[in-house]
Amino acid sequence: MNERPIVLMTHPLPAEWIGNDLDGFEVILEEGGAKGIQGKLQEYLPRAAGILCLLDDPLPESILNSAQNLRVISSMAVGVDNIDIAACTRRGIPVGHTPGVLTDGTADLTLALLLSVSRLLTAANNDAREGRWAGWNPTGWLGADFNGSTAGILGMGKIGSAVARRLAGFGCRILFTNRSSKPELARELNAEQVDLDTLLIESDFLCLHISLTDETRGLINGEAFQKMKSNAILVNAARGQVVDTKALLDALQTGQIRAAGLDVTDPEPLPPDHPLYQLENCLITPHIGSATYGTRRRMAQIALNNLRYGILGKKLEHCANPEVYIP
Ligand code: DGY
Repeated sequence: MNERPIVLMTHPLPAEWIGNDLDGFEVILEEGGAKGIQGKLQEYLPRAAGILCLLDDPLPESILNSAQNLRVISSMAVGVDNIDIAACTRRGIPVGHTPGVLTDGTADLTLALLLSVSRLLTAANNDAREGRWAGWNPTGWLGADFNGSTAGILGMGKIGSAVARRLAGFGCRILFTNRSSKPELARELNAEQVDLDTLLIESDFLCLHISLTDETRGLINGEAFQKMKSNAILVNAARGQVVDTKALLDALQTGQIRAAGLDVTDPEPLPPDHPLYQLENCLITPHIGSATYGTRRRMAQIALNNLRYGILGKKLEHCANPEVYIP
């Protein structure tokens, strides 16, 4: 009797998103909400052919050590900082991810955060609901102007460029940093590629769109906040660990910067008693950049395809470690 390949699934997905994609596999599903490979999944790990995971499931080398039959890891995310990619590559395990499909959703959410924070929407909504709307007030709820402001994009990849396009449409001057030079994009958006210090010093709005790596961890720290304008607004829709949380708290409490909109935090989830929630000048959403019906469904589709391809020994369409295919 042919044994069906075992797939470990760290989180359930709606049946209509899965369709027939997992037919032919034995799916071991963790339904208890535990993160990563634990309990039942750990038991099956040595026999598993594939892992279908999320961005907050840690997959360190110690897990791979027990996964002797693993042919693929497929994450329903573009960022793969939760997975030891180098260790996967050494073992010849391709890691699937979902680039491209969440660009617009995440760029839209970045703008939503920036607009909400800069125009004080939370405070204005609360004031209206709670009886503090006494009439049209010439000096009430004053926010930042977009037209003519300088927007700094840290990381001009797919999402950074989509945010830059949106902000250019609002009349912002665009500055950006990027590892490689992007003269065409600079021309298209009438933008300027600058160094990190210039970005920090000149931006009224600073939007973070870099991946989390050893180089970017804690990049926005106390020193960085000191260089920023006191009217600056920070938006982070990348990864929480790019920002030093303690330094951010200080910067917001002391008025070193004006405000922040955070879709990602460190730690994540941010515990309900965290002091960042107490600040009026900080708006926090629970990592919902890609949370639209269409985007999440497309992410699931790509992740399921990557999983199937990996188990069948076919080259993944979206692979985070393509070096694995170099003989
Ligand atoms: C990702 O896929 O890495 C995003 O953070 C999800 O919103």
